[in-house]
Amino acid sequence: MTVLLRHVHEPDQKDLDGYVRRGGYEALRRALRELSPEQVVELVDRSQLRGRGGAGFPTGRKWSFVPKHAPVKYLVVNADEGEPGTFKDRTLIEGDPHLLVEGIALAAYANGVRTAYVYLRREFYEGRRRLERAVAQAYEAGFLGEGILGTDFSLDVVVHPGAGAYIAGEETALLESLEGKRAMPRLKPPYFPAVMGLYNQPTVLNNVETLCCVPWIVREGPEWWIAQGPPQLYSVSGHVNRPQVVEAPLGTTARELIERAGGMRGGRKVKAFYPGGTSSRPLTAQHLDVPLRHEDLAKLGSMLGSSAVIVMDETTDMVRVIARVCEFYRDESCGKCTPCREGTVWVTQILERILHGRGRPEDLHLLDSLARNMTGTCFCPLGESVPPSLRAGLEDFRDEFEAYIRGAREPVEMPVRLRLGAPAPGG
Ligand SMILES: Cc1cc2nc3c(=O)[nH]c(=O)nc-3n(C[C@H](O)[C@H](O)[C@H](O)COP(=O)(O)O)c2cc1C
Ligand code: SF4
Repeated sequence: MTVLLRHVHEPDQKDLDGYVRRGGYEALRRALRELSPEQVVELVDRSQLRGRGGAGFPTGRKWSFVPKHAPVKYLVVNADEGEPGTFKDRTLIEGDPHLLVEGIALAAYANGVRTAYVYLRREFYEGRRRLERAVAQAYEAGFLGEGILGTDFSLDVVVHPGAGAYIAGEETALLESLEGKRAMPRLKPPYFPAVMGLYNQPTVLNNVETLCCVPWIVREGPEWWIAQGPPQLYSVSGHVNRPQVVEAPLGTTARELIERAGGMRGGRKVKAFYPGGTSSRPLTAQHLDVPLRHEDLAKLGSMLGSSAVIVMDETTDMVRVIARVCEFYRDESCGKCTPCREGTVWVTQILERILHGRGRPEDLHLLDSLARNMTGTCFCPLGESVPPSLRAGLEDFRDEFEAYIRGAREPVEMPVRLRLGAPAPGG
């Protein structure tokens, strides 16, 4: 039995009536009637909910950092969903927008917030339409606005479409963008959003899926939530028969997820898979039975990230995959810091050289050295997302790189879209 996806395919779930008929806004009613804001924070803390945006930070703990008596506080919802392979937030926004609105209202009540912004990926045209409609319906029914449900709790929700950059999903870059500036990460500390965020005020910043978990936790209790798995959304894509968002208990293996997504296309074998979007280290077929949860993946030098499982079959050219991933980070680098701005360009140039049949044996050493120089030196995690793929390439698929360098593989042309910065060392 699913929880987060339980009603996303019911046609009338997008409307207030359908949502309320299935128990919607009960959690908000209960919280406003029976629970203090501190008790809501405590429930979320006891549920062991961890953020679903990428970093996996415990949500209850994050909320406990927000200063209680600050006169102005904000809630910002990260609905940018830019991590390659991730499409779970879009599924929730389009299929169950009131669940998100209720999650926002509960988070705002818990943290003493009266203005919330949803920073929504601009390409989500349909999601925006449905979410704005849900917000309007919630105002009309008294679940948003002044004196919600006859209490002294008031909340305004603003849906704000972003301008379409991957870096705008990074929380401090998102805040810059929301303030009308260029999306570039802020220096931390002091800019931990809970303490100093939007317009320099304390700001609770959470992912869409994270907030969609909250109404269930408040309605059914943290013990129930934990007993359900806890429920986790995995975006399963790549060489599977039916790419889809799979809801499964946290810690489900890639083998089970592939099965749930209809098995491998053409009955082929798995060669590799990204367990948490392209920012995580890709794993190999020998890891198909590893539970996909934070601790187990950290032991393998990978991470759950946004839980986007991208599956690649035995025919996949891993050199091309890794070059394509590095191209993405090169194009999305905001350019603020040198290791990322220059490193992503160098790495991509070397990988393209190898693919074009002009690679040299020392290029592998050079790639290794660049991966080391980009680890722990970048200003934000975007630049740090390149080394995990490179490391996996050099350690687990080295023979494929060597085959190109030896001339044992047919050279391929990669799309070369941007040529910025200095040429790679050695031409
Ligand atoms: C480059 C980059 C892109 C990110 N993109 C997103 C995104 O699209 N959506 C998201 O929720 N979090 C994204 N994150 C993570 C956010 O910075 C932040 O950790 C998250 O929104 C916090 O919410 P949570 O605690 O509910 O997970 C990104 C992080 C980085 C470094
Ligand atoms: S790591 Fe990349 S995206 Fe992050 S601040 Fe540096 S240049 Fe910008």
